Amino acid sequence: MMTALYYHRHSSMQKRDGLKLIEEISVKEGDHVLDLGCGTGHLAVVLSKIVGEEGKVIAVDPNNERIELAKEVNSSINIEYLVASDADFPTDQQYHSVICTDVIHWIKDKESIFKKVYCSLRPGGTFGFTTFSNEPKHHPILFEMFPPKVLQEVINLAYNTLTPEKYKELASLTGFEVTFMDVFEAQMHFPNINAFVDYFYSSFQGKFDPNSPTIKRIKEKYKGQELVRILPRLTVILTKPIQ
Ligand SMILES: C[S@@+](CC[C@H](N)C(=O)[O-])C[C@H]1O[C@@H](n2cnc3c(N)ncnc32)[C@H](O)[C@@H]1O
Repeated sequence: MMTALYYHRHSSMQKRDGLKLIEEISVKEGDHVLDLGCGTGHLAVVLSKIVGEEGKVIAVDPNNERIELAKEVNSSINIEYLVASDADFPTDQQYHSVICTDVIHWIKDKESIFKKVYCSLRPGGTFGFTTFSNEPKHHPILFEMFPPKVLQEVINLAYNTLTPEKYKELASLTGFEVTFMDVFEAQMHFPNINAFVDYFYSSFQGKFDPNSPTIKRIKEKYKGQELVRILPRLTVILTKPIQ
């Protein structure tokens, strides 16, 4: 449960960008919305208040711990939490909107997810996602935390980025219209090195020992320092044409 808890504590940037996306996508009362890769459910609960009693939020994540924590801290009568991924979320043209915040760079086969989301949307429905506009410049401390091979493995797993132009091509290929695209730079603030290590422990889903001698030495070295990570961000909204 620790990685889920750390993610819950240190995901303010994801929440901020996700809230902006929800505003842009204009979810309405009564809508059925899929939150694909919902993490600990902080946006699912916001969506549940907008769609109200007549609406429904299906919130899926492949990480069982995150779904369990979401049920504990972000539950609502109109949210259904499921352990599922891009490969097996429920699809039958039922959603008015699919939102997918900070997930798509975890998924290598983008064409397949675009096609699946397209099939799961009602005509006129929207697919909104936040991600990176290109591979982030990795914080120098990460190179101290991990041997190059391990860092590369994580980068290969978690940073499958495409450029905004490539996303436009993919949208057109899969039948979507691009209705909104915003490229911007975001800053992620960490009050101290412990918060920095905790965030990456959760982001890399526990793939390193946070109490190893290397990490202890790094915590000592950067003690008392505030840290900032600069990230190239992208928000996209695609619409399935009514025809
Ligand atoms: C950075 S978190 C974002 C969580 C949440 N959407 C938010 O904005 O806070 C990335 C999430 O994507 C989930 N994820 C990873 N691979 C996935 C996949 N193939 N399908 C759906 N979700 C996935 C992870 O389990 C993780 O919870």
